[in-house]
Amino acid sequence: MNSYCDKWNLNPLKLPRHVGIVMDGNGRWATKRMLPRISGHHKGVERVQEITELCGNLGIEALTLFAFSDENWRRPEDEVGGIMGLLRWYIRKEHKRIVEKNVQFRVIGDRAKLSPDIIGLIENLEKNTEKNTGLHLCVALSYGAQREILRAVHKVINKVQNSELNIDEIDEKIFEDSLDTQGLPPLDMFIRTSGELRVSNFLLWQLAYAELFFDNILWPDFDSLKMVELLQMYSLRERRFGRTSEQLAEKTLNMALR
Ligand code: FPP
Repeated sequence: MNSYCDKWNLNPLKLPRHVGIVMDGNGRWATKRMLPRISGHHKGVERVQEITELCGNLGIEALTLFAFSDENWRRPEDEVGGIMGLLRWYIRKEHKRIVEKNVQFRVIGDRAKLSPDIIGLIENLEKNTEKNTGLHLCVALSYGAQREILRAVHKVINKVQNSELNIDEIDEKIFEDSLDTQGLPPLDMFIRTSGELRVSNFLLWQLAYAELFFDNILWPDFDSLKMVELLQMYSLRERRFGRTSEQLAEKTLNMALR
């Protein structure tokens, strides 16, 4: 029983365990209103707070948000500085709430490029939430999936060279345990806002079996109602993982009879 699922008319058994979102369209949202691009990012942070709270309340296990890509370092210096300022502000402001709400916070990506004070804020929040048991909130920052995969390859090679692992033992599980998302449930649902039909180097390995959702809404307009609408659509998808529909029906029946 989950009263939030009841409230939103969602079947808790048909919810994704792990949702990944490419939060796109902040700049266009601001430009449409003749505002500086940073106001779009600012509004975007408010949506991060709203959607994180919703996912936690619904009992979704993990939410991974693409906040800043490897490629975003190429943006104008003032926009990069503005986004980093927002992140600083967000972590400081939300630290207490994230800890109290039982959220497990994690940043994935290449944090070496981040400024030392931001790294400090992140590490502090990660440490203070490591024993929490609720929603995994995973922020992809200075992140690119191809680099993540390469980092994992290096880790696996190191283990082989140190004789901690045999080449024959390398399988999907060993590899996944070397990715930044190690320990998170499999990605079930991918969402991209703003109408772009690309995955843009986000969670490429983890996307293997995810259900894909592309929506025209701009991220600053992405509210709980829209998230629930997509979750309802997700719950209607048939996820076969290579099986046939008949096999799935049989499996459901067997589970019901057990
Ligand atoms: C994409 O919109 C958005 C970004 C590159 C930044 C997203 C960052 C935030 C929402 C703030 C920080 C996040 C957290 C977790 C606190 P865009 O600028 O590419 O929009 P456009 O395509 O319309 O120009």
